[in-house]
Amino acid sequence: HPATRRDFLYVATGAVAAVGSAAAVWPLISQMNPDAATIAAGAPIEVDLSPIAEGQDIKVFWRGKPIYIMNRTKKQVEEARAVNVATLPDPQTDQSRVKEGHDQWLVVIGICTHLGCIPIAHEGSYDGFFCPCHGSVYDTSGRIRQGPAPLNLPVPPYAFVSDTKIKIG
Ligand code: FES
Repeated sequence: HPATRRDFLYVATGAVAAVGSAAAVWPLISQMNPDAATIAAGAPIEVDLSPIAEGQDIKVFWRGKPIYIMNRTKKQVEEARAVNVATLPDPQTDQSRVKEGHDQWLVVIGICTHLGCIPIAHEGSYDGFFCPCHGSVYDTSGRIRQGPAPLNLPVPPYAFVSDTKIKIG
């Protein structure tokens, strides 16, 4: 039947057109989003902070490392700043660990400075981070307060690109 052949041609042409447009779109997408291998090799990442409510945190990955981004409450910021820095195992002010004008945002690498476990956010007696491996306790600035870890959680290189967006790396 002649109609069968026409139907077949129509379907085949449609399929070619779909493949063609997917191929044309792909290079654009891959330019905008570095692929996983590029990110693992160290490409910067941008993170939208607007979904993170006050008192909550998210974890993202940069260079294969977990990064905690915490939207601290006023109380948590005040607690971090009320401490006598000289009494800390790794003395650092809270101000030196956050960006000026963005006091509520804490950004730290979530790798315990003892033996590298991933601490849990909003746990422990200082309302910061608790490492379940050997009990290290970090405060709301990510500074070591109790347990075997020798140093504060490191702050990765990052900058605010707008009030609600940071670029890490
Ligand atoms: Fe965190 Fe040992 S690895 S306390």
